[in-house]
Amino acid sequence: MAKKVAKKATKNIVRDGIGAKEFAARRSRVLKALGGAVGMVCAGEGGAPLLGKWRPNPHFAYLTGIDDEPGAVVVFDPQAEDPKRRVILFLKPSDPELEVWDGYREQIGMGLKARYGIETIMRTRYINRMLTGLARKRKRLACLHDVAMPDSPVSPDLALFRKLSERVIGVSIEDKTALLPGLRSVKSKAEQVLMERAIAASAAGYEAAIGVIRPGADEADIATALVRGFEDAGADGVGYNPIVGAGLHSTVLHYMNNRGPVADGDLLLIDAGAEVEGYCADITRTYPANGKFTRRQREVYEVVLEAQRASIAAVKPGAAMWEVDRASRRVIEKAGFADAFVHSIGHHLGMEVHDAEPDGTLKAGMIVTIEPGVYLPNEKLGVRIEDDILVTAKGRRDLSKAIVKDAKEIERLIKG
Ligand code: GLY
Ligand code: MN
Ligand code: MN
Repeated sequence: MAKKVAKKATKNIVRDGIGAKEFAARRSRVLKALGGAVGMVCAGEGGAPLLGKWRPNPHFAYLTGIDDEPGAVVVFDPQAEDPKRRVILFLKPSDPELEVWDGYREQIGMGLKARYGIETIMRTRYINRMLTGLARKRKRLACLHDVAMPDSPVSPDLALFRKLSERVIGVSIEDKTALLPGLRSVKSKAEQVLMERAIAASAAGYEAAIGVIRPGADEADIATALVRGFEDAGADGVGYNPIVGAGLHSTVLHYMNNRGPVADGDLLLIDAGAEVEGYCADITRTYPANGKFTRRQREVYEVVLEAQRASIAAVKPGAAMWEVDRASRRVIEKAGFADAFVHSIGHHLGMEVHDAEPDGTLKAGMIVTIEPGVYLPNEKLGVRIEDDILVTAKGRRDLSKAIVKDAKEIERLIKG
C-alpha cells in the first residue's frame, strides 16, 4: 500500500481553469497600461507536433488562453475609436492540406470570436498593413515582449517596430517590457487554485515515488512512479523535466538523465512538479535511499532545512528576494558550507517553472520557490529542499508543506 507522504488527500481535481472574463480583464489592464501606445504580443512559430506539444510564448498564452495557434499575434490599440478594435487577434491563414496533418482549425466567425472572447480576428496576411497604419496614426509603439540578450534574436515586437520606424516618419518606440512580468507575477485566485492543484498532484507523485525508493532501484523506476502519480492525481503532466538523481547525481543541479542505480547509502534528490491547466509546481525533496540518513547526510540535511525555514520566514510583502536569499546563506555559511550553495534562493513560479521575473519587491499574491541546497560532489552528497510559497498580506503560506521534509518523518516513511 502506498505510504502517506502528504497530510492532505489529493483526489478529485475539478477542472475550472481561467475564465474568459479573466483573460479579458488581463487584456484590459494591458490596454490601460499602454497609455495610448500600440503594443503586440506574438505566440511564436510552431514546430512539427510529432516532436512534442507546441507551447506558445507565455505572455501570449496569459493574454489569450490560446495554445494551439502557432504564428498568432495579438495587437493592442488603446486609442481605437471602435472599442471592438482595441484588441485584434491575428491568426495564420487556413491551410486545409496542413490541417490533415496537424488538426482541423475553426474558420473565423462568431463561434471562434465567442470562444476566444475577442471580437476582432483577422488573418496574419493583414498584419503589416494594419501595423503600418497604426504606426502612422498613433506614432507610439510599445514593446511588451521581454528584452532579448545580445546573443539572442531581437524580440519580435522590437524587430518589427524598428522596421516600421524606418518607414513611417516620427514614430517612437517605448519600453513596456516590465508590464507583463508585473501582471503575471501576482496570481489571481483562479491561478492560485490551479497552482494548488498542481502542488496537490505533485504531493501524490512524491507519495508514489516514495513507495518505490530502495537500494537497488533505478532512478528511472522512481521517475516513472512519480510522473504516474502526478497524472493519476489529475495533472496534465510535468511542469518541467523531473530531476531524479542518486549519489553523485544528487549534486548535479539540473540532472536530466534519470537513469542510474540507486545504491545503499545514497541520497536521492527529487526535483519535480506537476502541471495543471498550464500552471506548475516546483518541489524538491532529498531522501536517504535505504531509509536512514548517515550522520554526515543528516548534518547537511538539517543545515539546509534550517536555512530553508529561515528564508521562508523572510518571505513577506515588501521583502526583496536578495534578503530572502541572505537568510538562507547566513545559516549555510555559518555551518561552513558557503561554497557549496552555488545557486540563488529561488524564483517566481507560475505558467513557467522559472516564471516571469517582475521588478521590485515581493507583493501579496506572488508565488516563489524557496530552495537552498548544499552540494558536495567529493562526498557524492547533494541536498536541496524546495517549497512553493504564496506571499500573503500578512506574510506567507507554504503551499507545499504537506510534502514531508522532517528528517525523522522521512525515515519513517521510507522504512515503512
Ligand atoms: N526545477 C528547477 C528549479 O528548481 O529551479
Ligand atoms: Mn525545482
Ligand atoms: Mn525551482
